Amino acid sequence: MKFGYFDDENREYVITTPKTPLPWINYLGCRDFFTLLSNTCGGYTFYKDAKLLRLTRYRYNDVPMDINGKYFYIKDGDTIWNPGWQPVKTELDSYECRHGIGYSRFNSEKNGVAASILTFVPMNDACEVTRLELTNNTSSEKDISLFSYVEWCLWNADDDSRNFQRNFSTGEVEVVDSVIFHKTEYRERRNHYAIYAVNEKIDGFDTIREAFLGAYRGAGEPEAVEKGSCTGSMASGWQPIAAHQLNLKLMPGESKSLVFVLGYIENAEDDKWESYGVINKKKAWEMLGRYKTDEDVDKAFSELNAYWKELLSRYTVKSSNEKVDRMVNIWNQYQCMVTFNMSRSASYYESGIGRGMGFRDSCQDLLGFVHLIPDRARERIIDIASTQFENGSAYHQYQPLTKMGNSDIGSGFNDDPLWLIAGTSAYVRETGDISILKEQVPFENDASKAKPLIEHLKRSFDYTATHRGPHGLPLIGRADWNDCLNLNCHSLHPGESFQTYGTSEGDVAESVFIGGMFVKYGKEYADLCELLGDDSEAERARNEADKMSGLLLSDAGWDGEWFIRAYDSNGDKVGSSECEEGQIYIEPQGFCVLAGVGAETGQAQKALDSVKERLDTKYGVMILQPAYTRYHEELGEVSSYPPGYKENAGIFCHNNPWISIAETVIGRGDRAFEVYKKTCPAYTEDISEIHRTEPYIYCQMVAGRDAKFHGEGKNSWLTGTAAWTFVNISQYILGLYPTHKGLSINPCVPKDFGDFSLTRMFRGAKYDITVSNPDKVEKGVKSLTVNGKKTEGCVIPFEEGVKEYKVEVVLG
Ligand code: GLC
Ligand code: GLC
Repeated sequence: MKFGYFDDENREYVITTPKTPLPWINYLGCRDFFTLLSNTCGGYTFYKDAKLLRLTRYRYNDVPMDINGKYFYIKDGDTIWNPGWQPVKTELDSYECRHGIGYSRFNSEKNGVAASILTFVPMNDACEVTRLELTNNTSSEKDISLFSYVEWCLWNADDDSRNFQRNFSTGEVEVVDSVIFHKTEYRERRNHYAIYAVNEKIDGFDTIREAFLGAYRGAGEPEAVEKGSCTGSMASGWQPIAAHQLNLKLMPGESKSLVFVLGYIENAEDDKWESYGVINKKKAWEMLGRYKTDEDVDKAFSELNAYWKELLSRYTVKSSNEKVDRMVNIWNQYQCMVTFNMSRSASYYESGIGRGMGFRDSCQDLLGFVHLIPDRARERIIDIASTQFENGSAYHQYQPLTKMGNSDIGSGFNDDPLWLIAGTSAYVRETGDISILKEQVPFENDASKAKPLIEHLKRSFDYTATHRGPHGLPLIGRADWNDCLNLNCHSLHPGESFQTYGTSEGDVAESVFIGGMFVKYGKEYADLCELLGDDSEAERARNEADKMSGLLLSDAGWDGEWFIRAYDSNGDKVGSSECEEGQIYIEPQGFCVLAGVGAETGQAQKALDSVKERLDTKYGVMILQPAYTRYHEELGEVSSYPPGYKENAGIFCHNNPWISIAETVIGRGDRAFEVYKKTCPAYTEDISEIHRTEPYIYCQMVAGRDAKFHGEGKNSWLTGTAAWTFVNISQYILGLYPTHKGLSINPCVPKDFGDFSLTRMFRGAKYDITVSNPDKVEKGVKSLTVNGKKTEGCVIPFEEGVKEYKVEVVLG
């Protein structure tokens, strides 16, 4: 069952009922200013950092669901309604929410009054602009009162939700004309304030929550709206809000349009005040001056659209499969950009006050957006590498505002260092910019410890190469990619962190998965060394990678039918047929095979066959089987979840593409695509009532076969799934993979996929590629023609100065 439909032409998902199974949200903002906005106008706004600079308040895990947002109340006689249905929940005569790329629209109607809302964050300002248009579609005159409402957050969202003894006394506002200024803490250490304004003379306002809502009332029953008038309240402590009132007379057929601006203003330390206690508003007036009229809004909106149009033109596909086209051309790339902006900080499941930027997460996200914003990817790589320790290990997380490593969680996640190679390699393959490898980059953010980036990569590589256990496999540390495989933790008491409790390293517990990564990224590191002319280092790295590959295929890494997952701190196998539960895990099957391990010995095929036999479900491939039915102290958090959820046998969408990529490596296009489809939003849209999260983007986890709600998605938006599925479909299935020498084209598709064409921007040149498949093969390039010239192999040689490449590929 669906709750809307894709409008590919406009790049929108159109939600046709507010009663979606869960809030279906969108992200507004491309740089510093961000809003999360749901299909019922719920959500919140922050500047740069969702924890430290939060403008509006949101209540996670609240009832009713999804409360607090940017609300407009329309009072038309005795009827009060909201264009987004919440919070009053008056039944609407019509409703539509269109989530687009960086903007959302709402079109609703009640009793002959139509409301249409367009809301977005402009490219170059720290504000959210909302145009609200009301139209009287009846044949009689209408007297309507319109009310706006936002609740301010007192900036630090963490403190805001805990420290009431202080916070109930700090709130301050000013009101001038139609602008409400939120200036809590501005008197002391803050140089910034927020504004909420409308481009029209108002008939009233409120800034005290209780004055507007009434005592013991929620946003769904605001007293001021019921009475038809705001009270002019001025907040002092408690909960400051911003509410405007506008009384509108609409003739039959008449429309009225208003522009609301929610903005963030920062002043210089020595230019904070206009007069004693009165904030300097100069910049606020300037900002508001830029969004005074409908034409101003149109202009800013078309700038935003032009930006996205250009970005999304850098990789496009046209095939006979509209679902693939819409994911590749629109939604998958859009989600990659959102993960670039948010990492894992702020979604409807990440509260914005917990994790900052993950080291491994950010490196992997990069794989999905490096072709879109290479300059910012470069900057990101330097930021991440700057937090690395001198011995090559890494802080697991860092803070977006300070860009410093987070010492609460510290280091010791032994997959982290290798992801830095993954991200850097992707960047250099994409751009050809080897200067980054020579750039001086600090260790531990200490400039006096700076070394060229390639040295950071060497230390990543060597950290893994030198931290080995009894079988010669990499030590796992606190955990590897699977944060819940805590083999050195041994926690027995609730409240202890699975990840930071216990010895950080241990010298016994090993990870086969990191072994697979070492093969893959060890070779990519070798390629980078070669680019710099360091052939002996390249050779050393390749030798090490080959040795590791051999080890993985030996009894140390191979269980007979699949790859073992790890060894625990007792030296016992994890993910082996010898285990009572958790006999096979997805990660080493995917990663070892995609690294090419076992392709020649038949073990690769065997491992993937075992995945299909033991881990596959109709909703995707589970992370492990059989699920852990009891807590295993020696394994940690993985066994803490009820069977079928999260890392305990859930379908962890992030590593489904690893299996799909692995299938392409051994040439099985039908199976690769089957795996791709199972978690793909455009496909799961049809079962939205089961899947429940947004049908236009990926979620982190779908409940596995053992779970009560098998097939139900959770944790939508901020997941490495976005980047990896895009890598999978664009680079492996459709097969356009950037190499150091140029783009390689080597698709691996289902036999009946048909012909298709691709366009891509690469190193400043434009590629138009057509792929035909007359023999209906799954993989294999029979001929490659580049600008009319027959070319050997699969790589389209990159020639400096050639700006257009017409490429014809025939499979066979
Ligand atoms: C979450 C984390 C990611 C981790 C994964 C598996 O998605 O963000 O870092 O790899 O879970 O535990
Ligand atoms: C929990 C989650 C896992 C996530 C981790 C982040 O372990 O289950 O998915 O990666 O927290 O710290």
